[in-house]
Amino acid sequence: MAKKKETKFVCSNCGEDYTKWTGRCENCGAWNTLVEFFEPKLSANPKSGVGKELQLKSVKEINKTNKQESSRLKTNITDVDNVLGGGLVEASVNLIAGEPGIGKSTLIMQIAASISDSIGKVVYVSGEESAEQVASRAARLKVKSDNLAIVSSTSTDDIAETILKLKPKLIVVDSIQTMACSEVTSATGSVSQVTNSTHILTQAAKASGTALIIVGHVTKEGSLAGPKILEHLVDVVLNLEGDRYGGFKILRAIKNRYGSTSEAGIFEMTESGLRQVDNPSQSLLAERQVTDGSIVFAAMEGTRPILVEVQALVTKTNFGYPKRAASGFDLNRLNLLTAVLTRRTKLNLGEYDIYINVVGGIKLNEPAADLAVAMAIASAAKGLNLKEDLAVAGELGLSGEIRRIPHLEKRINEAKKLGFKGLLAPASGSKSTFIKDAKNLREVLNSCFQK
Ligand code: TYD
Ligand code: MG
Repeated sequence: MAKKKETKFVCSNCGEDYTKWTGRCENCGAWNTLVEFFEPKLSANPKSGVGKELQLKSVKEINKTNKQESSRLKTNITDVDNVLGGGLVEASVNLIAGEPGIGKSTLIMQIAASISDSIGKVVYVSGEESAEQVASRAARLKVKSDNLAIVSSTSTDDIAETILKLKPKLIVVDSIQTMACSEVTSATGSVSQVTNSTHILTQAAKASGTALIIVGHVTKEGSLAGPKILEHLVDVVLNLEGDRYGGFKILRAIKNRYGSTSEAGIFEMTESGLRQVDNPSQSLLAERQVTDGSIVFAAMEGTRPILVEVQALVTKTNFGYPKRAASGFDLNRLNLLTAVLTRRTKLNLGEYDIYINVVGGIKLNEPAADLAVAMAIASAAKGLNLKEDLAVAGELGLSGEIRRIPHLEKRINEAKKLGFKGLLAPASGSKSTFIKDAKNLREVLNSCFQK
């Protein structure tokens, strides 16, 4: 008679084991964490014959038969191709995430149109809009291709079947939150529907060599059932971010199994869809105000330098605690910089409200933005302008020291190109005469401003 398997119950929180199930782990106090566990019977000597030996190949051998690199689907939108690392990879699963209204449907329609024009059959499935609505957007974007089919559906099973039968070059699913598969009973948009639907679509796409683009919504906080969990399931995660109302939209890869994540594409929404912005610095600085509280930051967007105006407003607090608000910049970082300014310079900001605005819907998340933000605050607080027309870049340490930043050469060149007199940044070994060396926040504030 086969010996009965010994079961145990193990707390998934602390690892304590029990012979009986209980609702609460007595060891760590967590509720409902006990799960059944079968103790594996392991012999001291490894047994041969249970598994199969793995078939090993060298990198060279695998690459000889690997067609992935050569079979990229070029979208012919330069920035999109760059961000993807050279185009969509055949049979890859790509997630494009972003807030509602940012332009995801527009961008993927443009990608779908371009691929259907130059490569082959593309299917656009919308679960949010009717086929007529999608078609009228396509007409607005001047899509003419006969190779692009548009259909409205929310059934994952139907879509998977279509992929397997039709084997299109590319299928677009807009959006994954509206899809449901029949096997899962939970509501549309729930975590299990979203993950199961992605799984089914992925398998169908891999089996038929179809590239898959799925759209996922994220909320302002960047969460919501979907995109975050999906990141593990897909090959490429693209993020479209920026301001919903005007301003630039930035396309970034936050995960890419086929390329780097350092590229970024910059777009602008126009009457006829998203248009690539080839000279972002120029448009960003076109309406620049040369007043106090305005500093130009030499930023990097991916591997591309752009010059962004950072504005600060400092006003006396009328009531209660001073208010700090930022658009396009992290609020915690702003609080930290305010503390550094207060402690390491003679500025007293304790009774002042501080507002930061980054022009053009750009979001700054580089530490190199610190110096520009701190200088904008100082300039606004004192009502002083920069002596010379300088661009600024540098990271601030807590003792007010200015730390080195990456891509110095690129930032210098961009600032030169747009006619600045110099770049205020830590020289960190660079011999360029364009650099105005910045070592310490207090020194910089004392030497660079004038009435
Ligand atoms: P959309 O792509 O539908 O956003 P998402 O799919 O991310 O929710 O479009 C976003 C906005 O862009 C929409 O409010 C209308 C506007 N838009 C234009 O300004 N020009 C255009 O050519 C198109 C197609 C849309
Ligand atoms: Mg949409």
